[in-house]
Amino acid sequence: MSRRILTGITTTGIPHIGNYFGAIKPALQLSCEKNVSSYFFLADLHAIIKQTNPNEIKVSVNEVALAWLSSGLDPEESFFYRQSNIPEITELAWILSCVTAKGLINRSHAYKAAVQLNHDHTKDEDKGISMGLFSYPVLMAADILMFNSSHVPVGNDQLQHLEITRDIAEKFNHQYGNAFVIPEAIINKDGKLLVGHDGRKMSKSYNNVIPFLSSEKELKKAISKIVTNSLEPGEPKDHSSCNLFLIYSAFASSENIAEMKEKYKNGIGWGDAKEHVFNELNSLIIPLREKYLELKDQPHYLDEVLALGAEKVRPQAKELLLKIKDLVGISSIS
Ligand code: ADP
Ligand code: TRP
Repeated sequence: MSRRILTGITTTGIPHIGNYFGAIKPALQLSCEKNVSSYFFLADLHAIIKQTNPNEIKVSVNEVALAWLSSGLDPEESFFYRQSNIPEITELAWILSCVTAKGLINRSHAYKAAVQLNHDHTKDEDKGISMGLFSYPVLMAADILMFNSSHVPVGNDQLQHLEITRDIAEKFNHQYGNAFVIPEAIINKDGKLLVGHDGRKMSKSYNNVIPFLSSEKELKKAISKIVTNSLEPGEPKDHSSCNLFLIYSAFASSENIAEMKEKYKNGIGWGDAKEHVFNELNSLIIPLREKYLELKDQPHYLDEVLALGAEKVRPQAKELLLKIKDLVGISSIS
């Protein structure tokens, strides 16, 4: 059976190794399987919900796009585009919002967390909450349903958004006739959530990241910041409660992980352990970094790739939107 996979990354910062190992790498692996067509996009309309600095958005769009391309995305073989270049998506989002129960979106985690934060600080519960943040899941549903995607590789944190998408699609299909494919989430089973140097989830929002395509010097610096304990070299160390080990185990082979466990038992010093982590991560990143620097040096490359992507997917978006408009009764009068 053929599968159509689709995924996006919000362009709100510089990609980190969590984005690579948790999202980019598994999605690209899936795209190489037989009978799979792939849609990868830069979710810049989602980005403006959280990021109000226009320059930061531009930098992030470039960096996230280069991260995909340096990691092996082939723009000829897949559909790679920028969300804001496909205006049909926002049009579809409006139509979907008209069949979406407000109560469904009231239960969305991101919105509920924002309300809770206001409660915790005894502020008005709607303080600082935009309609964009509230209806974020509807835009995401439009991203997914627009291209009849059957499978959506995402991290655990996005599962609820997929459930909401399915609810919206089912409601529409029930009301107007079968128009949308009901998508399934693909959660990378062995994909671990990478922790940052402070032990929390590695996230652009926490400023605790190991940048993905940074220079060797920056990579080394980020690894040196990983918090460890005060045990001296020679003293046995517990790998299971160690951030450095958790980060290492997200990308190292099982043999190397087993070896590292031994090293911990035998009392490896933190400096040496960090050196090991750096060397191995760096050797994985070297070819990607080279590609990144090469692409970054070609000023028009990205514009061309994204223009080509929009050119390829817009006819598909237009076709589906026409069908949807017809179903709801807003197609041309003649
Ligand atoms: P961030 O939390 O840094 O803003 P995003 O929300 O933009 O990251 O996530 C983009 C993609 O990267 C998602 O599919 C998400 O599941 C994945 N991802 C983000 N952080 C991590 C992490 N620490 N470990 C594994 N995957 C992650
Ligand atoms: N919400 C996703 C994130 O923050 C990004 C995203 C937007 C997405 N639209 C999507 C992911 C559609 C998968 C499918 O990571």
